[in-house]
Amino acid sequence: MTSDLQAVDIRIENIADYEGQRVTIKGWLYASTRKGKLLFVRLRDGSGMTQGVAFLPEVGEEIFETLKRLGQESSLIVSGMVRANPRAPGVPKGFEIGIDAVEVVQETADYPITPKDHGVEFLMDQRHLWLRSSQQWAIMRVRTTIKRAIIDFLDNQGFLNIDTPIITPSAAEGTSTLFPVNYFDEQAYLAQTGQLYNEANIMAFGKVYCFGPTFRAEKSKTRRHLAEFWMVEPEIAYCDLDDLMEFEEQFVSYVVQTTLEKRGPELELLGRDLTALENVKPPFPRISYDEAVERIHAIREATNDPELKELLQIEWGDDFGSPHETELTKQFDRPVFVYGYPTQVKAFYMEPWPGRPEVCKSVDLLAPEGYGEIIGGSERMSDPDVLVEAINRHELPLEHYEWYVDLRKFGSVPHSGFGLGLERTVAWICGIDHIRQTSPYPRTLNRLRP
Ligand code: 4AD
Ligand code: MG
Repeated sequence: MTSDLQAVDIRIENIADYEGQRVTIKGWLYASTRKGKLLFVRLRDGSGMTQGVAFLPEVGEEIFETLKRLGQESSLIVSGMVRANPRAPGVPKGFEIGIDAVEVVQETADYPITPKDHGVEFLMDQRHLWLRSSQQWAIMRVRTTIKRAIIDFLDNQGFLNIDTPIITPSAAEGTSTLFPVNYFDEQAYLAQTGQLYNEANIMAFGKVYCFGPTFRAEKSKTRRHLAEFWMVEPEIAYCDLDDLMEFEEQFVSYVVQTTLEKRGPELELLGRDLTALENVKPPFPRISYDEAVERIHAIREATNDPELKELLQIEWGDDFGSPHETELTKQFDRPVFVYGYPTQVKAFYMEPWPGRPEVCKSVDLLAPEGYGEIIGGSERMSDPDVLVEAINRHELPLEHYEWYVDLRKFGSVPHSGFGLGLERTVAWICGIDHIRQTSPYPRTLNRLRP
């Protein structure tokens, strides 16, 4: 049976606008369940998921049997009336389609990802298909919204988006994580950061950002490290450390609140505790590295867990590891700034703390609920001699940094900036425990495919 009514082509995400109308959806079959003369088919079309209902006496044997037979991920075009049904699952939920016509585009059998539990490595091998699954789909939808919010915020604040090179001749964030590139027989590297170029760009444009892929040959197999990740790096002229923190808390709060507003159903599908995100509003607590170390010592004293005691060992001057950040951030209900790290654990370009050269004007932003560092930033050195001294101390080849030193010779000003890791931010906002699910095709120490 087909209806004589004209149908409009729609995308599922707009289904609420078509209640009472006959529509056509072009998509895929996610699952189907039969209950007597009723067949419930879960349909997805890339923009959402909805329930189609086929009632045997209405659709007739042929359509009913066809739908019943189709395997998961068969592609199909269905038409029918949109009805409100508060119990209908989906994104958006609360609507369903009373199916009256079906066109099978391709019938599929033996789709490898079934509703049973698969191991993550298997699913990662099937990443090209796994992206269709509802949770992965939701994460990517949240990711694009976070990207958009980042760009909107910065553009509205008068930042210029200036691109920085991906192929670079030198290191900026430590030489141990460089990916080498053979550049016409010269040694080059994939960019670890666009920051040094941003610093040149602000002297031309005042406030800039770059936003793109970044590469780190990280040998660590943690839940927080990718070899290729996206980073947004704003840089601001005439900005000191305090100005920077004020800016960062506005920025991160905007991104979180905008994502909550636009992607509630996706976050709900992921089982995210939304109240934890609603808390993300300025001001964020600010603690010094010195205080952070004291707090970690106190947590260590207080715990009866010998393993945790071991993991939380730290002395002044050490960098924080994941366990330190995790335990520290559990003490706060929103992101927390830790500023003034020891110079020895940070990159060469950070402004020394006045009167305390062993400390630098760095600030990391640690996300709550154990997510840890999502932003690294600092006030930058503005004196050319101090900078040259730091470059030499780090045993970096000065000839590669002469242009960077120039910036301190021709109208040097106090300036600051930071980098926010997109994937870590997505993991935190989505509430998922491993960064690999936040990248469509993650690159890690042991994964280059698909
Ligand atoms: O702290 P990082 O290394 O800082 C910089 O690269 C500065 N040049 C940024 C700047 O000031 N313009 O990295 C910044 C952020 C981290 O806080 C983290 O969120 C992310 O980038 N990040 C990674 N994300 C995933 N995998 C990795 N291997 C990452 N390394 C850093
Ligand atoms: Mg860092």
